[in-house]
Amino acid sequence: MVKPIVAPSILASDFANLGCECHKVINAGADWLHIDVMDGHFVPNITLGQPIVASLRKAVPRVNDTESTKPKAFFDCHMMVEEPEKWVADFVKCGADQFTFHYEATKDPLGLVKLIKSHGIKAACAIKPGTPVDVLYELGPHLDMALVMTVEPGFGGQKFMVEMMPKVEALRAKFPNMNIQVDGGLGKETIPHAAKAGANVIVAGTSVFTAADPADVISFMKGQVSE
Ligand code: DX5
Ligand code: ZN
Repeated sequence: MVKPIVAPSILASDFANLGCECHKVINAGADWLHIDVMDGHFVPNITLGQPIVASLRKAVPRVNDTESTKPKAFFDCHMMVEEPEKWVADFVKCGADQFTFHYEATKDPLGLVKLIKSHGIKAACAIKPGTPVDVLYELGPHLDMALVMTVEPGFGGQKFMVEMMPKVEALRAKFPNMNIQVDGGLGKETIPHAAKAGANVIVAGTSVFTAADPADVISFMKGQVSE
C-alpha cells in the first residue's frame, strides 16, 4: 500500500528566509520538500537552480543522515525544463532525492528513467493537463512516482483542475502500489477530490506556506489520503 505524503512547494515560501521556511513546514509535519525548477523555456517562468538546492541541502539534511539534528526532508525536484537529461548529474550532485521530468520534454522517457536511477536517486515522470494519461502505462512499472499536474505548470497559486481526476483514477487502478502525486491548487477544499481519486503524494504551496497553522493543513490533507 502507499502512504500519505505531503510535499510543500517551496515556490510559495519567502525565498529570503528559505532555510527557516523549510524548517517551519518540516516541523509542521511535511515529509518532502517539493522544489520547482523552471527554465523559462519549457514553462514561461524562471525559478531556481542548483546553487539554491545545494544551499538548502546544507540546511535540510537527507532523511538518512543520522548525525545531524537539523530537520530533515526528501528533496522532490520537479524539473519543468527542456532537455531534462542535461541536468540529472548536476541535480544529483546538489542534493536531489528524486528527479521528476516532464513526459513532454523528452524523446526517450525510459532512457531518462534509467539514467536517473543509475545515479542512485528516484525517478518520476510528470504529465501536463493536455497530455493523456495512457502515455504513462508502459513507463509506469519503471517509475518511482507519476505526477499528474492539476494546473498548467509555470506558476503557483492557480486553480485546481478537478477534471484531471480521471487520470489519477486510471493510474491508481493500474498501479496500486505506485506513488501518485498531484500538483497545483491543492488545499483543504480540493484534497478530498485528489484523495478519493487515489493520489497519495500531495504537493501544496500556497495553502501550506500562507496558512496561519501549517500543521493543521498538513495533518488534514494526510488524514484525507489515509481514509
Ligand atoms: C506549478 C508548480 C507547483 C506549484 C504549486 O508549476 O509545479 O508545484 O508551485 O503551488 P500551489 O500549491 O500554490 O498551486
Ligand atoms: Zn511542482
